[in-house]
Amino acid sequence: MRILKVIILFIVFQVSAQQGGMWIPSLLEGMNESEMQSLGSKLTAKDIYDVNNSSLKDAIGHFNGGCTSEVISPKGLLLTNHHCGFSQIQSHSSLENDYLKDGFWAMNFEEEIPNEGLYVEFIVRIEDVTDAMLKDVSEEMSPREKQSQIDKNRNAVEKNIVKEEWQGFKIRPFYKGNQYYLFVTERFEDVRLVGAPPSSIGKFGSDTDNWVWPRHTGDFSIFRIYADKNNRPAKYSKDNVPYTPKHFLPVSLDGVEEGDFTMVFGFPGRTNEYLPAVAVEQITQKVNPSNIAIREAALKVIDANMKADDEIRIQYASKQARIANAWKKWIGENQGIEKSGAVDIKRQFEKEFVKALKDQGKEAAYGDILPEFEKFYKEFESINVKRNNFVEVFLRSNELMQMMFRLVQMENTASRGDEAFERARASMVNRLKGIHKNYNSAVDKGVFEAVIPLYTSNFDASIYNKTAFVNLDSALKLLEGDSKTVLQKLNNDVAYQYAKPLVLEFYTNLEPEFQRINTKINALQTKYMKALMEVLPQERYFPDANSTLRVTYGKVNGYAPRDAIYYNPVTYLDGVIEKYVPGDYEFDVPQRLRDLYATKDYGQYADKNGKLPICFLGTNHTTGGNSGSPAIDAEGNLVGLNFDRVWEGTMSDIYYDPEICRNIMVDLRYVLFIIDKYAGAKHLIDEMKLVHPKK
Ligand code: ARG
Ligand code: GLU
Repeated sequence: MRILKVIILFIVFQVSAQQGGMWIPSLLEGMNESEMQSLGSKLTAKDIYDVNNSSLKDAIGHFNGGCTSEVISPKGLLLTNHHCGFSQIQSHSSLENDYLKDGFWAMNFEEEIPNEGLYVEFIVRIEDVTDAMLKDVSEEMSPREKQSQIDKNRNAVEKNIVKEEWQGFKIRPFYKGNQYYLFVTERFEDVRLVGAPPSSIGKFGSDTDNWVWPRHTGDFSIFRIYADKNNRPAKYSKDNVPYTPKHFLPVSLDGVEEGDFTMVFGFPGRTNEYLPAVAVEQITQKVNPSNIAIREAALKVIDANMKADDEIRIQYASKQARIANAWKKWIGENQGIEKSGAVDIKRQFEKEFVKALKDQGKEAAYGDILPEFEKFYKEFESINVKRNNFVEVFLRSNELMQMMFRLVQMENTASRGDEAFERARASMVNRLKGIHKNYNSAVDKGVFEAVIPLYTSNFDASIYNKTAFVNLDSALKLLEGDSKTVLQKLNNDVAYQYAKPLVLEFYTNLEPEFQRINTKINALQTKYMKALMEVLPQERYFPDANSTLRVTYGKVNGYAPRDAIYYNPVTYLDGVIEKYVPGDYEFDVPQRLRDLYATKDYGQYADKNGKLPICFLGTNHTTGGNSGSPAIDAEGNLVGLNFDRVWEGTMSDIYYDPEICRNIMVDLRYVLFIIDKYAGAKHLIDEMKLVHPKK
């Protein structure tokens, strides 16, 4: 019995140890390839990334720098999330053509809508340039000397890049600056909107369901890449033609079920997996709680106003979603760190590190790292919290203070001459117009009264009654005249008089002090990463996310968030109907979808039990930026579209716990069902390659 338990524990440990990580696609051969195959993958490393032949990576595009997308047809059809295409969908919407509310479907190429500024970038090649980038960089150098040597090396590397003239490149640090990789890229700038479901499908459940399982959101939208006649990247032109990709993903009609292998291929933005315990404590005990409190105070005011007034509801919809998204994530992150015991686990790991240093006689080289972290983070705490809170109050929640922050910057440009001032004024005018498009001064004053006391006791809400900036016309009027006149008027404005000393304090005290300590911490983190990989080489090291292309993989799997609760990994259309609240802002369901449910008209998109799957969970290690990433099955077919994580597992940005961290994907069969049966855009399905790998 005892032995059996040990064996089971060992197996569980082995399996769960094989989880987590966002890997560099060009380095999968060896450990990752065999791990993936042990999880059920039939793919080789070369199927995923190959320089000389087409491979899966050729279908994966960085969507406007913030999300991921994938090519799903030989004619450049591109799939991403609804929330990734949100601002494009919104920009083409009006009261008459409300694509946000009703959805949009181009029925032919001519109806596809161009999007200024939108781009999709592919990775042509990845190269390790560590040696060249770290040439003549030594331990003895100060952080500043190091940086200037690295900058010099970068110039040399850039001169020698082999690439076509239409291609671009990026060089990025990995493993906290211990390695560098070069990415040769191809950026397409003619990307047109093809289709989007109504928000009642694409954003179903809205903020209540955001970060939450069980989930029932059809979070997808469709675009198409256009290229010039030579199939190369080109600015928008009516003469451009649909792009012929080097690879596009076939779509599986068989889906996946619990235990099946999945991989997610995309551009994760930022993680911090190698922080010392003291840093995790500071984030969860000091930074997160104060940031959460500020956002909570702001949301209370905004939510109440949105509920009371329809115009405000529309005006504040996307601001509210942005504030609420991180607010909710941080709460989940803190709970997850607590529940998983991440700080204690990190402390235990640090003990092993110290022991290994001793055993290997490396205390002289690395023995100071952990004590220095303790010292630096103690020194860092109050300034780190204060700077975070400043950013939250002045740049994320209160809009009058945001205007003031930018106005102080504008005033500072005046000393650099008229030309600099003119440029700053023009951009300020644009910024003011942008803010005032969706601005309500009563709401903003309420936010001010709620958040300012959380930053400073110096508080005067009466500025809202007298400042020129709560109204666009008077704000623009104040900015008229030569620079001297403008600055004079500005310095007579009560809101400016109130905010300027606070902003100047940020620039003269807060920011320099923050950067001074942060530079030391970053240099130490670089050394810590190097030491870990050298002293404990058997551990699992993947580089933190940095918005470059990565592979993560795992299995379809449910989880147990609390005692006696187990969440199944798949949701069905039945669950959409269960959540349906007629006319509700978050949980309304379109009549047509209810009709299709009533007649069970699912066509080829039903699963083998005749049910229509909506979303599913996996153990893939993802983060922000992985939105829109394809979930790929064991054979390289598209089965899902990543769009979120479960609340209990959002701490995976800091600490990945395979027991509880899950990513959330839309089932591709639901996407196809909506395109075909709901929207009647069968011509898009006909472009795709549908496959039945399980038959
Ligand atoms: N939580 C997801 C992400 O971090 C989805 C956000 C969009 N949805 C929303 N309800 N705000 O981006
Ligand atoms: N929704 C996130 C995004 O837009 C992905 C979810 C996550 O953070 O894992 O990138």
